[in-house]
Amino acid sequence: MEPAIIVHGGAVKFSGEKVGRALEGTKNAASRGYRILIQGRSAIDAVQAAICELENDPTFDAGTGSPLTSEGDIEMDAVIMDGRTLESGAVAAVKNVKNPIVLARMVMENTPHCLLVGQGANQFADEEGVPRISKEKLITEENRNKLLEFKSSYGKAVMNDFSTRDHDTVGAVAIDKDGNIAFGTSTGGITNKRPGRVGDSPLAGIGGYADNKVGGISCTGHGESITRVALAYDIISKMKYANMTIQAAADEALSEMSEKLANAENNFSAGVIGIGKDGVPVYSFKTEQMAWAWARNGKLHNGVNPGDDDVYSVEIDSDSTLIKDD
Ligand code: GLY
Repeated sequence: MEPAIIVHGGAVKFSGEKVGRALEGTKNAASRGYRILIQGRSAIDAVQAAICELENDPTFDAGTGSPLTSEGDIEMDAVIMDGRTLESGAVAAVKNVKNPIVLARMVMENTPHCLLVGQGANQFADEEGVPRISKEKLITEENRNKLLEFKSSYGKAVMNDFSTRDHDTVGAVAIDKDGNIAFGTSTGGITNKRPGRVGDSPLAGIGGYADNKVGGISCTGHGESITRVALAYDIISKMKYANMTIQAAADEALSEMSEKLANAENNFSAGVIGIGKDGVPVYSFKTEQMAWAWARNGKLHNGVNPGDDDVYSVEIDSDSTLIKDD
């Protein structure tokens, strides 16, 4: 099987100079994951490495760069899933961890559970020797200001108005040379969320899914809306039971999500990335923008707006060189 990876840096409208940073960040993440795949390593290793890259980049809403809760704290969610065995691991509302995706993988590999939350997730991190990081190191000036702005402009009366908030979760889906598919999704959630609020991201079947026999999906967007329609498994079901291609299934599921939630109080769009068992990466989004990058056959594709497609050649012998094609 030809190895491939696709990543997203969130379905959202990126403001001004953030567009360039989002392009650069997704490009770096896809390139890192792709180099792991072409060394012959597994899809799950590639997904974890790509997501660590995105979690460490303050441009994105995950790890460093996570938005603040209403109490000025950072609570993060992440999931990883191995489509070969259908094993998954996840953490939710976890604090003081640099890379929640690494902890999610430890849940998958070192416990009999699928999801650990809050204090229990942090206790597990301590037991596994995961170093604690102060929340100050995860908070960016931009996100501190965003919370202040949110509280001063909108106040308590519109605490439930999610339309003004970013939801630019990160995710990755990969297929390795053996045809194994994996996905991961990681997020800090949404600005001014209640302490303990968990969205779609850490829930296998909702914020993503991977099954070697069908494909892999990672979602981004408004967590409550994605949860209402079980977006990831809706796409998998369309492929599995209606024999749809992954592109057609993703496009249809997102359109149906908009229609079904048209009258809901909070109806927000989403975006998805995926790789079917044929190994071809696809993406689809209903938001104004979504940062994405994918790599296959030595080429890396990158964009933010509908219709974007910057193409790079991947220098296999180098750790990081990408040469832009004309
Ligand atoms: N999709 C991320 C969240 O709503 O938490």
